[in-house]
Amino acid sequence: MTLHAAPLPAARLPLVADTSFGDARTPLSVLLDAALDAGPRALEPLLGAEPVDLRDRFLVLLGIYDLHTVALDVVGPRARFQGHPVVAEVKDRLETAWLAELERDWQDAGHLTEATDVDRVVSAMRAVAAKDRLPHAYKWLAREASWTELVDFLALEGGPDGGFDDLVAVCQVGLSGSAKLELGKNYWDEMGQGDPDGVHTVLHQRLSAAIELPHVPRARMPVEALERAALGGLLATNRWLQPEMLGALGLLELQAGPRCRLVLQGFDRLGAPADAYPFYVEHAEVDPVHGRDWMDKAVVPTVTEKPAWGPRIVKGAWWRSTVNLRFFEAVRRDLVARSEAA
Ligand SMILES: [Fe+2]
Ligand SMILES: [Fe+2]
Repeated sequence: MTLHAAPLPAARLPLVADTSFGDARTPLSVLLDAALDAGPRALEPLLGAEPVDLRDRFLVLLGIYDLHTVALDVVGPRARFQGHPVVAEVKDRLETAWLAELERDWQDAGHLTEATDVDRVVSAMRAVAAKDRLPHAYKWLAREASWTELVDFLALEGGPDGGFDDLVAVCQVGLSGSAKLELGKNYWDEMGQGDPDGVHTVLHQRLSAAIELPHVPRARMPVEALERAALGGLLATNRWLQPEMLGALGLLELQAGPRCRLVLQGFDRLGAPADAYPFYVEHAEVDPVHGRDWMDKAVVPTVTEKPAWGPRIVKGAWWRSTVNLRFFEAVRRDLVARSEAA
């Protein structure tokens, strides 16, 4: 689903108290942004340049992922620098550092399984999905959050599967047989099975209008939200990470249903307008089926054919789950702190 295709109102309040960079140097994301407008000679001095901090790293990567994936009329002429050697160098170096951290976190968490047999891969992935299936943040939305808190949370959440249609389309490249068919079917569901009013992007636009969902610019997002958004770009622009992407997208399907049901409970409790419902009802009902089919028809045949993909599929699922949990908790804490200070 491509989010925020139509202009949305600005956020009522900053969603993070401090969006400053931790260094007095000009952030690399600012330099890169200016250089992409100025042209290739302006890019050359950025070879080997370092971001000033984590926030800057993710802003740089998101700016580069835009060149690869954002609609051409939005990204503009700078899209021609998608493959510029300096852009490629910066992208690869920053991703390498990030991937090393994700790998370290994975190993620190004790997920060292190298199991390649189908049954163990499936049970490992289901275990990742079952752990924290209902994060504290979603129970808070269902039971405690105010209307403003709920709206501001959903503005950052962007739905359970922001960008999923393009991600699933990229993920199926080079697959075959049952896995390709399953990803195609999943994509067609994102497209409302051909009904323009049922396209998930359209349902999200209805939701956005109904509850006046604010558009939160990246500059106001917490670093955990930037990392969560960047994970899709990392997976979508690195073909060698296709196994991890298959796991990450499958994990999203396995976890989305119960979380969407909690959002709907929050809507009921707070009296949300009718047009807020269809987007989350659709995902509450359909994603458990998508999750099961993704496992049975995409993961199982793929691991049967390519056992070495098994541990990497589980690792990709764990990455998505972990990055998501960091994001949910950071946003909930920020919104609660803001309410208490008000
Ligand atoms: Fe969707
Ligand atoms: Fe789905």
